[in-house]
Amino acid sequence: MQNLQGKAAFITGGGSGIALGQAKVLAGEAGMKVVIADIRQDHLDAAMGWFAERRLPAHAIRLDITDREAYVRAADEAERVFGPVHLLCNTAGVSQFGPIEKATYDDWDWQLDVNVKGMINGVQTFMPRMIERGAGGHIVNTASMSAFVALPNTAIYCTTKYAVRGLSESLRVELEKHGIGVSILCPGAVNTNIHESVLSRPERYGSTGYYGADPETFKRLKSVIESGIDPLDLGRIVLEAVRRNDFWILPYPEFIPTLEKYNGEVLASLRRYESDPDYLRRKKLGKAMPGAR
Ligand SMILES: NC(=O)c1ccc[n+]([C@@H]2O[C@H](COP(=O)([O-])OP(=O)(O)OC[C@H]3O[C@@H](n4cnc5c(N)ncnc54)[C@H](O)[C@@H]3O)[C@@H](O)[C@H]2O)c1
Repeated sequence: MQNLQGKAAFITGGGSGIALGQAKVLAGEAGMKVVIADIRQDHLDAAMGWFAERRLPAHAIRLDITDREAYVRAADEAERVFGPVHLLCNTAGVSQFGPIEKATYDDWDWQLDVNVKGMINGVQTFMPRMIERGAGGHIVNTASMSAFVALPNTAIYCTTKYAVRGLSESLRVELEKHGIGVSILCPGAVNTNIHESVLSRPERYGSTGYYGADPETFKRLKSVIESGIDPLDLGRIVLEAVRRNDFWILPYPEFIPTLEKYNGEVLASLRRYESDPDYLRRKKLGKAMPGAR
């Protein structure tokens, strides 16, 4: 999407971190009107101060993205305030790490509900509005390098981010005909507040096998991300990618060796069956690669 000036963006998780970096760049450097939606009022209040100081057009909505009815109301409010939403940034997400053997159903449900179903709610809410208007648009989904690489203690988070990749790749092939661009942002470390994600975990997901609001754990987790990229710099990378209509936004070349190894393993497995009789039969029928683009 080349022309962003004066258009509206809806950014989930916009009170903090990566989403706030996106909102600042979109409003401050691309002339967009930004709606920041977040479950935490304190995050929204702090964020709105930044926009007010600079007299930039921003509107805050308290929203739990897992609440479908509230999501529709938020979209209506956003469009009432700033007009049609042309850019949806599905950025809100949470993480809580630990060994898979200790995970409770509540641990699974919380991260799946926010990171996957919350994102689906964003798509289900805004996609029909974009299609109906017929003026195109763009959706940026924030996944993670955990959409490619499984590390110990990240099973739930990793499951959610692989799902975000599946959703994003599907949206890409399905929404092209409507002129709606799709991008997937896969960060490595970013210096945000994600180390204290559990502070936004609702009581209905009460049973956990992992850590709670523990300052020592927060400190340890923060030490992993504090040398990461600044959310403002990442926001600029996202802005340029949206303008170019890039699908992949992977600004972490340090993962090249890992992905080369991983892709090599996948290709080696496919090649192992190149002389398999049933593959040769399917090939002869011309039906060997039904899904290949
Ligand atoms: N920080 C990193 O190193 C990193 C790396 C890769 C991917 N990510 C991804 O980036 C995204 C943003 O994370 P961040 O690092 O900026 O974290 P952050 O905690 O700084 O910001 C996330 C925001 O989302 C909000 N939020 C949480 N649950 C919500 C809900 N149910 N409804 C609405 N808002 C909700 C939080 O209140 C918070 O303001 C997440 O999807 C995360 O998985 C982060």
